[in-house]
Amino acid sequence: MSPSIQELKNKLQDLYQSAEQDLKSARSSSELYELKTHHIGNKSRFQKMMKEMKNLSPEEKPLFGKWLNEKKTALEEMYSSLFRELKNRELEQKIKTEKIDLSLPGPPSHKGGLHPVQLIIQKTVNIFKSLGYSVRTGPMIESDWNNFQALNIPTDHPSRDLQDTFYIDEAHVLRTHTSPIQVRSMLAEKPPMAILAPGKVFRRDNDVSHSPTFHQMEGMFIDTHVSMAHLKGTLSYFVKELFGTNTKVRFRPSYFPFTEPSAEYDCSCPICGMKGCPMCKQSGWMEIGGCGLMHPKVLELSHIPSEKWEGFAFGLGMERLAIVYYGIPHIKLFLENDIRFLEQFSFKGES
Ligand code: DAH
Repeated sequence: MSPSIQELKNKLQDLYQSAEQDLKSARSSSELYELKTHHIGNKSRFQKMMKEMKNLSPEEKPLFGKWLNEKKTALEEMYSSLFRELKNRELEQKIKTEKIDLSLPGPPSHKGGLHPVQLIIQKTVNIFKSLGYSVRTGPMIESDWNNFQALNIPTDHPSRDLQDTFYIDEAHVLRTHTSPIQVRSMLAEKPPMAILAPGKVFRRDNDVSHSPTFHQMEGMFIDTHVSMAHLKGTLSYFVKELFGTNTKVRFRPSYFPFTEPSAEYDCSCPICGMKGCPMCKQSGWMEIGGCGLMHPKVLELSHIPSEKWEGFAFGLGMERLAIVYYGIPHIKLFLENDIRFLEQFSFKGES
């Protein structure tokens, strides 16, 4: 015989009471959640009572359905408020017990750092900035005109050889030096000017002491009455700032198509103090770049009247400077990205 509505009502009341008792006895929010699932979840006895309704008369059905819903809603509300209470209590407990001891050392963190060549670029820029120079940049893919012709480099000059230059097409190259930034600046600005142009350059060199990509820093100063004395004074100031006041500069006559006269310049070896060491090949001197007074033709090709304006220019090899500054034995170390090598610079934090 199927149960009467009164029997079902009693059963519902019993289920409700046992659920209420259980929910109130829960000691943690997770336990409470499990109890709720047990009592009013999909597979609970409470839920199964729905099925028993089918045996009731059409008048009894809605009445019993209403009671069932009321009890279920009451249990759900009870659950929500108990859950909130328990969660708050658990949070308070957590705050009390999980105090952070700020005096404990934290786990060591890996600190990034600048590449030694970038550190030297920054140092060099800062020194020349203090003399009034400002930084200019140019593209790595450069026109043949800017890279060669405007710098008075004739078509038969050895540096244009396919062996030395990466050609993109007939009229474009990967810049072989930072000197085209001289041309760009002269075309864009009016003298007097003092510019500095660091950048990556490319040559088809790849042996023990050369790599196909390296960094240069171009310097250019244009004013009226500029002489070799200004050039030498400027470069001396630079090396003294970088390597120390005892450092000397020496000029050796040289040839560049874009300067006249031209020189290569060395600084006294800061590693051995000119006593002679493997770094300076026992000579006491380190070669750091080329320089000279700007060829009047170069000024004219960029529309700067050479009767009025004169200038000097210089190019620095940044890898060489970094080698000397940090005492690095091998140029290849700059390109290998060996973390053990690079990490030695990350803590210097110099700029
Ligand atoms: N561009 C030259 C090179 O790559 C370096 C250089 C020499 C730059 C003399 C200059 C300069 O500005 O005046 O070898």
